[in-house]
Parts: sequence; structure tokens; C-alpha cells
Amino acid sequence: MKYGYFDDKKREYVINNPRTPWPWINYLGNEDFFSLISNSAGGYTFYKDAKFRRITRYRYNNVPMDSGGKYFYINDGDCVWSPGWKPCKTELDTYECRHGMNYTNIKGEKNGIIANVLYFVPLKTWAEVQRLTLTNNSKKTKKLKVFSFTEWCLWNAASDMENFQRNFSTGEVEIEGSVIYHKTEYKERRDHYAYYSVNVPVQGYDTDRESFFGLYNGFDEPQVVAEGKPGNTVAHGWSPIASHYIEVELKPGESKDFIFILGYVENKQDEKWESKNIINKKKAKETIARFNSVSKVDAALADLRNYWDNLLSIYTVDSGDEKVDRMVNIWNQYQCMITFCFSRSASFFESGIGRGMGFRDSNQDLTGFVHQIPERARERIIDIASTQFPDGGCYHQYQPLNKRGNNDIGGGFNDDPLWLILGTVSYIKETGDFGILDEKVPFDNDISVARSLFDHLTVSFDHVVNNLGPHGLPLIGRADWNDCLNLNCFSNDPNESFQTTENKTEGSKAESVMIAGLFVVYGRDYIDLCKKLGKNKEAERAQKLVDTMVDVIKKYGWDGEWFIRAYDYYGHKIGSNENEESKIFIESQGWCTMAGIGKEEGLCTKALNAVKERLDSKYGIVLNNPAFTKYYIEYGEISSYPAGYKENAGVFCHNNPWIMIGETVVGNGNRAWEYYKKICPSYLEDISELHKTEPYVYAQMVAGKDAFKPGEAKNSWLTGTASWNFYAVTQFMLGIRPEYDGLLIDPCIPTDWKGFKAVRKFRGAVYEIEVVNPYGKSKGIKEVVIDGQKYGSNLIPVYKSGTIHKVKIVIG
Ligand code: GLC
Ligand code: GLC
Repeated sequence: MKYGYFDDKKREYVINNPRTPWPWINYLGNEDFFSLISNSAGGYTFYKDAKFRRITRYRYNNVPMDSGGKYFYINDGDCVWSPGWKPCKTELDTYECRHGMNYTNIKGEKNGIIANVLYFVPLKTWAEVQRLTLTNNSKKTKKLKVFSFTEWCLWNAASDMENFQRNFSTGEVEIEGSVIYHKTEYKERRDHYAYYSVNVPVQGYDTDRESFFGLYNGFDEPQVVAEGKPGNTVAHGWSPIASHYIEVELKPGESKDFIFILGYVENKQDEKWESKNIINKKKAKETIARFNSVSKVDAALADLRNYWDNLLSIYTVDSGDEKVDRMVNIWNQYQCMITFCFSRSASFFESGIGRGMGFRDSNQDLTGFVHQIPERARERIIDIASTQFPDGGCYHQYQPLNKRGNNDIGGGFNDDPLWLILGTVSYIKETGDFGILDEKVPFDNDISVARSLFDHLTVSFDHVVNNLGPHGLPLIGRADWNDCLNLNCFSNDPNESFQTTENKTEGSKAESVMIAGLFVVYGRDYIDLCKKLGKNKEAERAQKLVDTMVDVIKKYGWDGEWFIRAYDYYGHKIGSNENEESKIFIESQGWCTMAGIGKEEGLCTKALNAVKERLDSKYGIVLNNPAFTKYYIEYGEISSYPAGYKENAGVFCHNNPWIMIGETVVGNGNRAWEYYKKICPSYLEDISELHKTEPYVYAQMVAGKDAFKPGEAKNSWLTGTASWNFYAVTQFMLGIRPEYDGLLIDPCIPTDWKGFKAVRKFRGAVYEIEVVNPYGKSKGIKEVVIDGQKYGSNLIPVYKSGTIHKVKIVIG
């Protein structure tokens, strides 16, 4: 069953049934000021950091799901309703939610009144604009009472949820004209406040939550709305909210617009006050003035659209399959921007108070984003590297507000350092900016020990070399990419975190074959980079270490039919035919085939066949098989999940593209694309009821074949799946890949594809690419023609910025 449809021309997903199987959300803002918004206007807002600078409150995992948001209530005499159906849930005559690129438009119609609300965060603005348009489609004049609503969060989203003995006494507001200011804690250490305004005079307001709702009502029936009479309350402590009350008269056919601004201001210490206890409102008023008319709002929305037109013109494909095109050209790229902005911090599955920016996560996210805004990727790389330790190890995550390593999860994940090589190399290949390597970058944010970014890459490489186990494979540390493979944890205490507990490290033999494969792939990238820089000695040193690792993997990492996953604390194999459960894991098959380890001897093909046979399922490739059915203290969290979920044999979509890329290494385009389609959300639209999460973005996990309900997705939006799928499909399957000295075109497509067209902007030049497949092959280059001339290589040169070139590739 479907709940809407793709409008590719407008780059929108249009939801026409508000009862989606789960809140289907969107993100507003892409720099400093952000909101999450569901298809019924649920969600919240924050500045930079969803934990430390939360502006509006949200209720996670509530009854009903998705409680709290940016609501409008319309009292039309005997009927009270909301344009997004919720929270009132009054049956609407029509409903439509359009999620677009950083804007959402929710439209409801009831008894001849259409309420259309556009939500977006204008570029370079610390505010969300809400434009409410009311239209009278009936034959009578209508008198409506309109109430806006949002609830302030007391800034720190974590303590906001728990420290009520304090919080219920701190809330403070100021009301001036049609603007409600939230100035809680402003008089002490905070240099910031928030506000909610509307561009017309109001006939009343409320700022005290219990007066607005009445103590016994929910979001669906605020007392003042039902009574049609605002309380004009001024919050003193308890829970401050912001609600405007507006009386509207509409003649038949008449339309009126109201522009609401929900904004955030920071003031310098000596500019905080206008007079005693009266806040300095200058900046708020300036922002409000920027959007106080419909034409100004239209212009800001047009700017946002242009911005996205631009970003999405950098890579476009015309494959002949609209489901591929809409993902590659629109939604997958959009999701890459979102994961770049939020890492794993704020979604409807990540509360915003748990995790910040992940070291490994953000490096991987970069690969799907770097072509869009390389300057921001550059800044991110420096930020990430600044949280590294001098020995190459790293904090597992950092806090976006202060950009400092955050000890909540600590460090010691031994895959982490290698991802910095991926992030940096992706950036340089896209831009040609080798200068980034000379940037002086601190360790653990301590500028006095800053060294070049290149040195950071060296310590990243060496961190693996300096932490090898008894077989010569990398020691795993707390975990590798798989956060749940906790081989030194040995926890019997449910109050211990699997991620931060290491009860047994002394003499641990726990090694990771996945990190070994990762080391070969990014070690080679490091070697190429050294050569490019003329650091030949270093390249030679690194080459020896990588070659040794390849040998070690062949010797100790091969199980006969596939690559084993790891060695446990005792030195026993994990992911081997010898094991009773979880005989095979996806990660080592992905990394070792991407590295082409043992390709000549047929190891890659064997491993990939084993994946097909044992891990593939109707809804994607599961992580391990057979699933663990009991808790193994020596394996940690992975065996804590019920069979078929998350890291215990779920379809962990993030790693499916590793296998897709592996298939392209052996030239199996049919299989690579078969796997692509299984997890690609646009192909799952028809089974939305089962799949549950948004059909326009990837989810982290889909329940695997051992689960109760295979095919049911969870954790949509913030997942490395976004960048990995984009990377796999654009660079290895469509095969258009930035290299230091040009654009490599090396497609690997299904044999029945006749070809495809693509446009790639690369370092300022435009490459109009046509790939033809006259012989029904998957891979291989028979001929390259550039601007009408035959060319001897499929590495297409870097051209002068501003020039346009036609490239034709014949597969064969
Ligand atoms: C999540 C984490 C990521 C981890 C993965 C597997 O996606 O964000 O860091 O690698 O789970 O455990
Ligand atoms: C990380 C991973 C998640 C895993 C969790 C364990 O948060 O993202 O997949 O289940 O660690 O706590």
C-alpha cells in the first residue's frame, strides 16, 4: 500500500494519507539552525546541537507517537481542526503534505477553509519561517479563530527531561506586540534567547502551558482553543509555551497570509539588555523584518530552491529507470546532506541527546556529500581530525556545539582512525586541493600540539600497525565498524554499557579481519597519496605493511569458502564454518572483496557466492547467518539482539553497498544492481505498510530473514547507508569516479541495460557522459570518445573550469 507518491519534477514526496505507518519526516535548515518536521507537523527545533541548544520541546516515543510540534489550531465555530490532521485529528476533507528539499508544505481543508502551511529555514538564517495561508472556498463569510502553538525547551534537552525540581521554576518569557520571547536562563550564563512572532497584530496569546491546554487535556484539545478564548497568560516557571491568537474574517474566495517566525538570537555580553530585565530585541526584530511580507518569503524560498537546483546539478543520471533516477538525482543526495549535517544525532530514532558527531560516521558521510559543498567537507575534516589523539586513536564522537571530543562513548574503536583517510582522500580527489594536507590540525583540540593533516593520516595508518594481534591482524579494541562486536567486554551486568565496558583486555587476542580489509583499502589510498606527494620512502614503508596484511588475511582470514570475521579474546575464530551460529558475516566479505584480496585465486568470487547463498534475502543482505540465538558473553552486544534485528542478522543497509562494490570488482553488474534494488527505498514504496519508514530515504536496518517480520525497517535518515549507497551507485555501478588526475569512467551495469546518460560537474568543468552497451556486457571499456575524438583511456582529464565536454563510453 502507498501513502503518497513522488513528484520528481518538484523534488517532493507527496503524502496524501496522514495515517502513515510511522511519522514520515523531513529536515529544515542545513547549516546552523534546524528543525525536524513530520507529515503532521510534529517535531522540534535546535541551534547547531540537538542536545545543548534545543529550542522547542518534543516527546519521544510517546502515546500517540510523534507528540509535540509546530501546531496550528483553527476554531471554525463548532469545529476545531489542524491543517496536518494531528493533533486534533478532526477528519479533514482533503490533506496533503509535501516534503521537499529543506521545506515542508502541509495543507488541510475543512468545511470550505483551506489552511496551507509552508515551513522552511531560509538560507543563512537562524529562524524557521512558517507561512500560513487561509483561503475561504465556501460561499459564506467565515470568522475563524486561529491559534499557533509551540512549546519551549529549556535549552539542554537532557536536563529538560529530568530535572523538574529546578526546571519548573526557571522558565521566563517576555511578550511585546506579536512577539513572544523565551528568555529562560538568559539573565545568568546564557547569551541567547528564542522568539516566536507573527506579522499581524494579535488579539491575544498564551505562554503558560497548563492554562493553554487545561491540566487534563492533551495536544488534541487545548482548552483555550475549544473555548475560543486565549488566556493572555504570562509564564512564570512551569512550562513556557508560545501561542498567538488571531481572529480572521474571510469573505467567500478570500485568502489571507500570516507569517510566523520561530527564531534564535545570540547577543554579546555587554549587549544583552535593553534595560533592566528587558532583553535586547534588536537582532530578533531584524530577522522578523527580513520576512515580514509574502513577497519576501517567496524570495527566500526561491533562494532555497536555487540553492538545491545548484547542488543537485552536480551529478545527474538518466538511466531510463525512474526509481534509480529519483534516488540518485534527488533523494539519496538530499539524505547525504542530512547525514552530513546531523551525523547520528537527531532523528525520530536518535533522540538528539544521545549521540553527537561520530568520528567514523562523519568521515563516511563525507563521501556522499563532498561533491555538493567541498568547502564544508573541508571544514568538517579538520574538525574531525582535531579530536584525534597523538597516537592516532580517537574519541568515538564529538559535540557539534563546541566541536570537542565527547567522552560518553570514549574511544578505542580501532577502525576509527582509518576512516579519516577515506574522508580526506575523497575530498582531495573531488577538489584537487592537496593544500588541505598542510593545514595544522590539533590533537584533542590542543593547538599547542598541532601537526599537519598529513601527519594525522600517518598516525591513523600507524595506529593499526601499532596495534596488531597474535596473527598479525588488527586488534579490535572496543569494537570495529560493528559497534556491537564487543570482544573485550565480557559483561554480565545489565547496567554496564556494551560500548564503554572492557572487562578483559589483558592478553586479549581479539582481532578483526574487517579492520584488516579496511586497512588494505585505505592503506593503499595512503600509499597513492604519498606517491602523489613524492614521499616515496613513506610509500614504500606503507606498501610493505599493506602487502604483509594481504598475506596475513589470506593465511589467517580465509575460512575455505569465505573470509572469517574476527578472532575472539581466546583466539577462536568468529564467522567460520567451525562456529555453531553466525558462521559467516558480511563485513569481512565486503572489505576483503573491495580490496580484491585473493581475487586471482578466486577468493573474491567464492566469498561473494557465499554471501549470495547464505546472507541474501528478499529484503537485502543480512549481516550474519545463522543469527545468534543466545547471549555469548565473549561477543558482547551483537548476541544481545533478538534474531534478525540490528547487528544480529538484520539487513544492516549500511554494509550492503560494500558487497555491491565487491560485485563490481569482479564485474558482476547483475548482482550488484539486484542488491541495490532490494534496499533502495523508491523500490519499496508499494510495500510501505510493511517497510514502515519513509519511501524516500534509506533506513539503517530492515528486519532480516530470521526476524518476526522480515522487511520492516527502523532507524530511517541518519545512517551511513545514505553515503555508501550514493558512493556505490554513482562511483562503482554507474562508475563515474573522481581521481586525483581526472574522472574515471568505469561502469558496471546489468547486462540488459542498453546504456545511460549522466552529467557530472567536476572541478568546474561539465562532463556530458553517454555510456552505451551494444554487446550486453556489464563491465569493460571498448572505446572512449571525447568531443568526437577517440581517446586512449577511461580516465578523462581534468578540464578548464567552465568548459563542457562530451564523453562517450562503449562497454565491451
Ligand atoms: C551505526 C553507527 C555506526 C556503526 C554501525 C554498526 O550505524 O552509527 O557507527 O558503525 O551502527 O554498528
Ligand atoms: C550504536 C549503533 C547501534 C548499536 C548501538 C549499540 O549506537 O548505532 O547499531 O545497536 O551502538 O548500543
